[in-house]
Amino acid sequence: MSIYLLAIESSCDDTSAAVIRDGEVLSNVTAGQEEHRAYGGVVPEVASRAHFQQIIPVVDLALERASVKKEQLSALAFTRGPGLLGSLLVGVTFAKAMALSLRIPLIEVHHLQAHVLAHFAEEPKPSFPFLCLTVSGGHTQMVLVRAPLDMEVLGQTLDDAAGEAFDKAGRMMGLPYPAGPEIDRLARQGTARFSFPEPKIRGLDFSFSGVKTAIRYFLRDETAKNPNFIEENLADIAASVQERIVSILLSKIKRAARETAISEIAIAGGVSANSGLRKALQREGEKRGWQVYIPRLEYCTDNAAMIGIAAYYKYLAGEFCGQDVSPEVRWAL
Ligand code: KG4
Ligand code: ZN
Repeated sequence: MSIYLLAIESSCDDTSAAVIRDGEVLSNVTAGQEEHRAYGGVVPEVASRAHFQQIIPVVDLALERASVKKEQLSALAFTRGPGLLGSLLVGVTFAKAMALSLRIPLIEVHHLQAHVLAHFAEEPKPSFPFLCLTVSGGHTQMVLVRAPLDMEVLGQTLDDAAGEAFDKAGRMMGLPYPAGPEIDRLARQGTARFSFPEPKIRGLDFSFSGVKTAIRYFLRDETAKNPNFIEENLADIAASVQERIVSILLSKIKRAARETAISEIAIAGGVSANSGLRKALQREGEKRGWQVYIPRLEYCTDNAAMIGIAAYYKYLAGEFCGQDVSPEVRWAL
């Protein structure tokens, strides 16, 4: 008999539901939240209210697209954390109520474990052990993956996340939130002719706050000389910002590959949608003989399919949780 899972993701500002049959994605529906653009960042209260409005239609659509009836479901999976409390609460409460009414078990999923396991939504799948650089708006981690449910964090950011660095730089450039995709688009038309310092962080940890400060002072000084500096050089600034962030990420990937002697390399999370990072990793992989795994865009940013894939492995391992489960805002991998 097949295993049907309904998965729900609501940790930040995307409401998403997916249906998974025996580890295969049948549907993956994600509703974003335009509401935050005007604020220059995600407003927690606004996010949780939008999740509340979107969750029922999103779940209905996921079931409909998969042609699966809720009575067929074997278990209900949800993101337990890390994330915003109010946002997580909507998904956790919804999942608990639905599981209770259907009398099926619940599976809690760690958001960052799910980002890594998004690679198992499609072929080709990485083989174990592999390295995964997870880069999102809230996290930057180098993860050693020994098995679907056996992961070790080798290094992480000491301050800002990579996506946060994109978003904050974009904000200084006057771009709307989230600025990552916009910088990516602008960078394609520009030249990286401005240089920002590379942080000297030992080991496999990351830091982006120095780059952020360098960008701030650079823009301040240039704008003092020419008030139109940013508008006149927008594409070149974007290309320069992107090049530095990508070079920081790539140098840590090279280091991790060298130290672990692993040549199966994956990237995950919202920033793995960045075309500069995708291209640079592809190029480096060809040069060094790595097997490189880059998810389809739909599986880079937050989505419930990855929650369902992670839940499928937990289902096979018999890892369920009770109705007394509550969100984990901070939750180490
Ligand atoms: O994984 P994600 O959807 O949500 C979190 O869990 O944080 O990641 C969102 C982050 C945002 O910071 C956004 O600016 C960044 O991913 N992002 C990008 C691109 N697409 C999304 N950054 C750079 N280039 C992109 N193409
Ligand atoms: Zn995420």
